Amino acid sequence: MKTNMQNNILSEIPASNNDVSDHISLDQAILMRDVSDSSEALLNTVENEKNKFYNLPRYYDLAFERNIERDIVFFQKCFQMYCDGDVKRILEVACGTGMFLEYLPHYGYQTVGFDLSEAMVMYTKKRLHLAGLNKHQAKVVLGDMKDKVFKKKFDAAFVCVNSLGYLTRDADICDHFKTMVKNLRKGGIYIVEISCKCENLLNEKRVDETWHVSKEHIDLQLKWRPFLYDLKHRLRFIDFEMQVNDDQMIIEIKEVHKLRLWLFEEFKQFTSSNGFTIVGIYNQNYEEISLSMPITGELGVLFFVLKND
Ligand SMILES: C[S@@+](CC[C@H](N)C(=O)[O-])C[C@H]1O[C@@H](n2cnc3c(N)ncnc32)[C@H](O)[C@@H]1O
Repeated sequence: MKTNMQNNILSEIPASNNDVSDHISLDQAILMRDVSDSSEALLNTVENEKNKFYNLPRYYDLAFERNIERDIVFFQKCFQMYCDGDVKRILEVACGTGMFLEYLPHYGYQTVGFDLSEAMVMYTKKRLHLAGLNKHQAKVVLGDMKDKVFKKKFDAAFVCVNSLGYLTRDADICDHFKTMVKNLRKGGIYIVEISCKCENLLNEKRVDETWHVSKEHIDLQLKWRPFLYDLKHRLRFIDFEMQVNDDQMIIEIKEVHKLRLWLFEEFKQFTSSNGFTIVGIYNQNYEEISLSMPITGELGVLFFVLKND
């Protein structure tokens, strides 16, 4: 049975990101693990840059392989609808294994990507080389989304699959948007794919959080399971597990990923106070979501189109 607390949890949260309340007890809303396992301890121990998974790009690629063509077509539609002028140069933030960097040049774009993980950058370099792309068509460099500034501006940029959530502190998120304003020309757009907090935390739970991939003598068993929500610090903790059987070589990873728990009003504040305007919101079917409706995790993972005006 749903309790009032679960249903009204958002109304207890202060609107200002700099004015967080005392820790809100989530015992009834925490979905999967005993809450006595407080996030305070996790807060200090989990450091995202130490996530081993992102040092194993080959397995990331297999685990998150997807058809990105539909996303590219959607991006093109956004460029036409929201960008002032033509789009030629595109920046991908936290580009991971460079899937988009490889394919965007086929649509006539020059692409640059960056990522915090050296292993991801090396892997992507090799991928672009194998695809026969030169540095003018596609390039990848090391960088932190908090402060990575490029000399030459871009017409458009994007960040996918909630990668922005790895910036968890207000100050880092603000620095990120300030940096992105510098990286984009006036009238350019930035597409950000993130999932907001569900109004009812129980809706965050998925029926099955495991999946299996088998390809080229490699077997992967994966689990991505949100288990703790800390409203005070705006954090979502994820249990990640991967078992790899790579031609008889066994690798096992168990680690916690710490991600920003996005509240739409705060996200809007971060963007608007740092030079962007939200001009469109789209769901995973690329259907437009009205800016006047409540924007919560119940709508699924969303694309926010931000304009540098
Ligand atoms: C979930 S993966 C997404 C990769 C890629 N965007 C995709 O669509 O598959 C998250 C990526 O964010 C990168 N990352 C995490 N924190 C970062 C930071 N502060 N700056 C740049 N990249 C970061 C990780 O190294 C990892 O490659």
